Amino acid sequence: MRPTMFIVLVFLFSLSFSQADTSLPRATVCIVGSGIGGSSVAHFLRLFSTSLDDAVFDIRMFERNVVVGGRMATVDLSGEVFEAGASILHPKNLYALNYTNLLNLTIKEPSSSASSSPSLGIWDGKKFVFKTLGFKSNLPFVQKLVSYANSVLMFLRYGFSLLKMERFVQTAVGSFLKYYESHELRPIFESVEEMLKWAGLYNLTTANLGQELTDAGLSPLLAQELVTVITRINYGQSLAISGLAGAVSLAGAEGGLWSIKGGNWQMASGLINHSNVALHLHEEIESISSMGKYYELNSTKGNSYKCEVAVVATPLDEVKIRFTPLISIPKRRLQHTHATFVRGLLNPEYFGLDAVSDIPELVGTIEVPDLPFSSISVLKRHDEKDMTYKIFSRKPMDDALLDSIFSFRNETIRIDWGAYPHYNAPEVFAPFILDAQHLYYVNAFENAASTMETSAVSAENIARLIMSRYFGRPPFSSSNLGSYSGTGALRVDL
Ligand SMILES: Cc1cc2nc3c(=O)[nH]c(=O)nc-3n(C[C@H](O)[C@H](O)[C@H](O)COP(=O)(O)OP(=O)(O)OC[C@H]3O[C@@H](n4cnc5c(N)ncnc54)[C@H](O)[C@@H]3O)c2cc1C
Ligand SMILES: *[C@@H]1O[C@H](CO)[C@@H](O)[C@H](O)[C@H]1NC(C)=O
Ligand SMILES: *[C@@H]1O[C@H](CO)[C@@H](O)[C@H](O)[C@H]1NC(C)=O
Ligand SMILES: *[C@@H]1O[C@H](CO)[C@@H](O)[C@H](O)[C@H]1NC(C)=O
Ligand SMILES: *[C@@H]1O[C@H](CO)[C@@H](O)[C@H](O)[C@H]1NC(C)=O
Ligand SMILES: *[C@@H]1O[C@H](CO)[C@@H](O)[C@H](O)[C@H]1NC(C)=O
Ligand SMILES: *[C@@H]1O[C@H](CO)[C@@H](O)[C@H](O)[C@H]1NC(C)=O
Repeated sequence: MRPTMFIVLVFLFSLSFSQADTSLPRATVCIVGSGIGGSSVAHFLRLFSTSLDDAVFDIRMFERNVVVGGRMATVDLSGEVFEAGASILHPKNLYALNYTNLLNLTIKEPSSSASSSPSLGIWDGKKFVFKTLGFKSNLPFVQKLVSYANSVLMFLRYGFSLLKMERFVQTAVGSFLKYYESHELRPIFESVEEMLKWAGLYNLTTANLGQELTDAGLSPLLAQELVTVITRINYGQSLAISGLAGAVSLAGAEGGLWSIKGGNWQMASGLINHSNVALHLHEEIESISSMGKYYELNSTKGNSYKCEVAVVATPLDEVKIRFTPLISIPKRRLQHTHATFVRGLLNPEYFGLDAVSDIPELVGTIEVPDLPFSSISVLKRHDEKDMTYKIFSRKPMDDALLDSIFSFRNETIRIDWGAYPHYNAPEVFAPFILDAQHLYYVNAFENAASTMETSAVSAENIARLIMSRYFGRPPFSSSNLGSYSGTGALRVDL
C-alpha cells in the first residue's frame, strides 16, 4: 500500500471513530424471536459490519420462552435427549454447516441412531402396502446386500419414476444453491417473489406438488405412496402443498442427512453468544409502534424499548403483536403437528403382525381419512422390548388411542407445534419489509418452504437489507474488508 493511501485510510478511520464517539446516534436493532431466523440475522449483521460498526449499533433480542432456539428444541425421555422439533439438516445446508464449524459444534449422523438405514413400511390404516427389509447384521457386507435388495424392491414397485423424482429434487436443490453466491453476483431482495424468481424457484410455488410431479412424469403410485409418506412426515400435509415445499420435503429424505450432537438449538445459542446481543429471555413483545424515527417495542414485562430497526423473526400467524400503524399481510394458517414421544413397545396386533420385530422402524402413512397418525419411528432401540418412539400426527394422540397402538408405555411426552405454514399453491407472500421503513419480517420466506436453512437464507437477505437500507451501505463480509475503506464517508448519510 502506498504511504499516501495509508494516511488517507487512517484519516478516514479516525474520522469515523470520532463520529461514532460524538455526533452519531447509537442505533439499536431489535429482533423478536431467538430461533435460527433471529439468531442468524444477528450473526449476519455482525459479519457484514466491521469491528468499527459494533460501536454503531446494538442488538437486542426478545424471546418469550425461557430458552432460545424456538422450533429447534430437545425433549428429555428418561434422561436421554432427542430432537423435538427440527431434527435433520441436508448435506447442502451450507449456512448450518458453517455455523457448526464456527461454533465448534459436533455433527451427528441421522437421528436414526436405531440403525443406519431404517426399514420402512407404508401403512394404509389396515395393512402395509409396501415394506423394505429390516434385516439386522453387524457384517457390513450383509448390510450392503440388504440395502441393495431394498433398492431392488423400491425399483420393482415404482420403476423409473424414482429417477424422475430424483431429478425433480436435484433441480430444485441446484437452484437453491444460488443463494450462496457471492454478494457481487447476488442482489439484495426486497420481496420473497423477487428472491424466488431470481433463483428460478418461483414457478414451483404456483402449482401444487401433485401437479408438478405429474408434469415431471412421475407415476401416480409413487406420488400417492412414497412421496406422500415423506410430505406427511416433513410437513404433516398431502400432495396439495406447493411444488417447492414438496421438493424441499423430498430433499429431506435423501442420504447424508445430519444433525447437531446435543441438539440443533445450539446453533441459535452459539450465534447469539458470538454476536454481542443483549438477550431478553422470557420477555414477550406485545406491541410494535412506529414513532417516526424509531419503533417502540412494549413487552409483557411492562418494559418499553426504542429501536431504530425492528425485525420480526417469528411467524405472525398465531402471535398477538399489535402493530401501529397496522400492517397488512396475507392470511396464513399454520399446520399444527403433534409430536408424541413414547418410551415403551408397539403392539404388533395393532398392525396385524405377530411379532414386534416385524414392525418397520419407520411406519409412514398415505392419505386415508381417519388414519390417526402420520408416522411412527424408532428413535432408539434400548433392547428388543424397550424402545423410544416419535409419532407425528395432525391431531393429539389421546391415551386410549396410544394404548391401542402400544403394548406398554413407560413415558409419554406430547408437544403441539404451530409447526410450519399450511401450504397452499399458488402461494402468496408477505413482504420482507412490513412498513416500507425499517420493520422487517424474516418469516415471510416460510411460505416458500420452512426449514432451518431457509430461515438462515432469509435472515442473511434481511441483514443485507438492513445494512443497505438503514446503514446506507452494501454489506461486505470480513473476507473482502481489505478493499473497503469508505466507512467514514458513508456514515454521514445516517
Ligand atoms: C415438528 C417439526 C419438525 C421439523 N423438522 C425440521 C427438520 O427436520 N429440518 C428443518 O430444517 N426444519 C424442520 N422444521 C422446521 C423448522 O423448525 C423451522 O423452519 C425453523 O426452526 C424456523 O425457525 P425460525 O427462527 O424462523 O422460527 P422459530 O424457531 O419459531 O422462532 C421464533 C421464536 O420467536 C419467539 N416469539 C414468538 N413471538 C414472540 C414475541 N411476541 N415476543 C418474543 N418472542 C416471541 C418464539 O418463542 C420462538 O422462539 C420442523 C418444524 C417442526 C415443528
Ligand atoms: C472444539 O471442540 C473440541 C471437542 O469438543 C475441543 O476439544 C476443542 O478444544 C474445541 N475448540 C475450540 C476452539 O473451542
Ligand atoms: C462458509 O465459510 C467459509 C469459510 O469461512 C467461506 O469461505 C464460505 O463462503 C462460507 N459459506 C457460505 C455459504 O457462506
Ligand atoms: C415460469 O413460468 C412463466 C410463465 O408460465 C414462464 O414464462 C417462465 O419461463 C417460467 N420460469 C421458469 C424458470 O421456469
Ligand atoms: C451460550 O452462552 C450460554 C450462557 O453463557 C451458555 O449456557 C450456552 O451453552 C452457550 N451456547 C453455546 C452453544 O455454547
Ligand atoms: C408502550 O409503553 C409506553 C410506556 O409505558 C406507553 O406510553 C405506550 O402507550 C405503550 N404503547 C402501546 C402501543 O401500548
Ligand atoms: C417400565 O417401568 C416399570 C415401572 O416403572 C419398570 O419396572 C420397567 O422395568 C420399565 N420397563 C422398561 C422396559 O423400561
